[in-house]
Amino acid sequence: MRIAVIGSGYVGLVSATCFAEIGHEVISVDNNAAKIAMLERGEVPIHEQFLPGLLDRHRGRRLKFSQSVAEAVEKADAVFICVGTPPSATGEADLSFVEAVASEIASALRGGKVIVEKSTVPVRTCEWLRKSLLLNGAPLGSFSVASNPEFLREGTAVTDFLYPDRIVVGADDELSRTTLQKIYEPLTTGSYYQRESFIPAPEAAPLKARIIITNARSAELIKHAANAFLAMKISFVNTVANIAECVGADITEVCAGVGSDSRIGPRFLNAGIGYGGSCFPKDVQAFQAVANHCGYDFGLLTEVMRINAEQRRVFLKKVRSALWTLRGKKLAALGLAFKGDTDDVRESPAIEIIEALLAEGAKVRAYDPAAIGKTREISELNGLEYAADAYDAMTGADALLILTEWKEFASLDLNRVQKLLKYPIVIDGRNLYERNQMTDVGLIYYSIGRSVAAPKHLTAAAQEPETEVVLPIGGLELPSGARSAA
Ligand code: UDX
Repeated sequence: MRIAVIGSGYVGLVSATCFAEIGHEVISVDNNAAKIAMLERGEVPIHEQFLPGLLDRHRGRRLKFSQSVAEAVEKADAVFICVGTPPSATGEADLSFVEAVASEIASALRGGKVIVEKSTVPVRTCEWLRKSLLLNGAPLGSFSVASNPEFLREGTAVTDFLYPDRIVVGADDELSRTTLQKIYEPLTTGSYYQRESFIPAPEAAPLKARIIITNARSAELIKHAANAFLAMKISFVNTVANIAECVGADITEVCAGVGSDSRIGPRFLNAGIGYGGSCFPKDVQAFQAVANHCGYDFGLLTEVMRINAEQRRVFLKKVRSALWTLRGKKLAALGLAFKGDTDDVRESPAIEIIEALLAEGAKVRAYDPAAIGKTREISELNGLEYAADAYDAMTGADALLILTEWKEFASLDLNRVQKLLKYPIVIDGRNLYERNQMTDVGLIYYSIGRSVAAPKHLTAAAQEPETEVVLPIGGLELPSGARSAA
């Protein structure tokens, strides 16, 4: 089929490339001339496994680039809208880019084309899209509108696209239903996986994708509800981690036990410094705004966001409790990206933590395998130094902080770490190590949801000085009479 993909950001570029990979003729459009020129030269603007190889394979053949929406729409059977939907000041999704693209599409519409909303949008956007296309002059009957939300994760975007848990198609008419079914046929029948040069499957991926067909409103709601649920899972586990730490339990053991219940599942149960990225923070807010429009106060999501912000403070407290004062301290930070395998620093918890440390007067030297370039563009990080590699970052540092779950940070030479650090202190915001791996080489190890681990001779150096425990007034329900007694 002939496909136009409007917007060459994360979702747009990966979708366009993967549509070409499964056999379609694709035009990928962006209004950023520099980006299109870069893509035409074969340069990839994002760090994503398999993407450079796939671009090489299809660029100039099944995959073309253009700045013209009209040209792409005229040649297409289906037009996917993949432009940004950033949060507005009120937390609602700002749909002005979608609306602007709709008016451009409208003037180029002839014949029966399917316009597909792929960006994450609030429920009922398809209806607005339909209305906007008509108001902008698209002849009635010249188009259908559908929703096909994308669930790809940064870092594994290509395999998420080619081996999806499910493909959701929200279609209110026959043309959009059959067109989208046909587009995804190589994945739903499994024929793509029979080809010689297919991208290999991640472990345990089914070799036939499941397609779920709903109406457009349900598809839109599926996307928001899925992201909000995952964010909730992370905030829930982070709260349990804080309790585990308080009572002397180990959150990794707790999660292994909880996650082995097949109704809960083991994934997305990693405690840490909270979620970040371009999706969860904005989608949770936008979903709450959708609920507000329905007159419903989705207070659960307020708590999800509060816990997520609090988790950054929990980590900072650990740094202070390990090092006492921070002014002038030299800290090594491993990780800048919001998670491993990406160069994306949008809403990165690592960056927020580094900002707070710099504001407290600490000197931070950071390393990230992919995200240094994008971090350099953030002006608030004045004074942050960049290291050539992980070991360079920690040489002579008062402590090592692990902020992003890159695989290479999970396999450091710990003997070397111990020798390079000035004080033997590691504070791990991603729980990448077993506690005894650190103590065996003489390191004091602070992590999330587990008690501090210290080698015998340093046990006293890892203990917090005793402080008076002050219960927050009204924060704890005491039996009647107990409050005055306490
Ligand atoms: C997410 C959704 O997973 C994806 O389906 C949607 O299309 C876009 O948003 P992404 O933002 O790329 O994808 O990253 P994801 O892997 O979901 O991680 C989001 C954040 O949660 C990261 O900061 C990550 O470090 C954090 N996280 C994830 C945890 O803290 N613990 C976990 O167990 C999992």
